[in-house]
Amino acid sequence: MSISLIVAMARNRTIGVNNTLPWRCSEDLKHFKALTMGHHMIMGRKTFDSIGKPLPGRTTVVVTRDKNLKIEGCLIAHSLHDAIKACDGDTEIFIVGGADIYAQSLLLADTLYITEIQQDVEGDAHFPAFDKSEWTETAREVRSQETPQVLNYHFVTYQHR
Ligand SMILES: NC(=O)c1ccc[n+]([C@@H]2O[C@H](COP(=O)([O-])OP(=O)(O)OC[C@H]3O[C@@H](n4cnc5c(N)ncnc54)[C@H](OP(=O)(O)O)[C@@H]3O)[C@@H](O)[C@H]2O)c1
Repeated sequence: MSISLIVAMARNRTIGVNNTLPWRCSEDLKHFKALTMGHHMIMGRKTFDSIGKPLPGRTTVVVTRDKNLKIEGCLIAHSLHDAIKACDGDTEIFIVGGADIYAQSLLLADTLYITEIQQDVEGDAHFPAFDKSEWTETAREVRSQETPQVLNYHFVTYQHR
């Protein structure tokens, strides 16, 4: 089983504001869907709250310390370790955020799929700083959009050395 981490982040590492995404980019959502479809996704409880429902075609594992939390259509785990165990049998599992969960799981990842937004964005949730020398860039696709806001962004894949 390989562990992949998928994130969209601004140049200043912002990934969220007020428990939502700070930009609108439908191509990035499609990219996320294409990569994660059919697989397990591990997410923090706050990220689940921001999405509000399990995403179709994937198994959602929500990580929480709340022993009473039950969410219809999702698996619940009380540690990252248990969340990964819940994905047993999958070939590739995706850690999909947010900031708290990324910080705890970055060292476990084999692959990073990062949508690198080519500008600084204000926010209150950030991707952890990491040492790029430990990662090999294996793909980079340059993209842009004009609406609903101008965004230049790259779909980048990094493999752990
Ligand atoms: N740009 C992107 O690609 C992207 C992707 C995902 C999320 N986001 C953004 O990130 C922000 C949310 O991130 P966040 O850091 O605030 O929250 P988060 O990582 O989504 O969730 C944090 C919660 O996860 C649970 N948790 C964390 N570590 C745990 C552990 N070791 N064991 C058990 N439970 C654990 C706790 O839930 P309980 O409080 O229930 O115990 C904690 O409050 C939002 O703005 C969201 O939009 C952005």
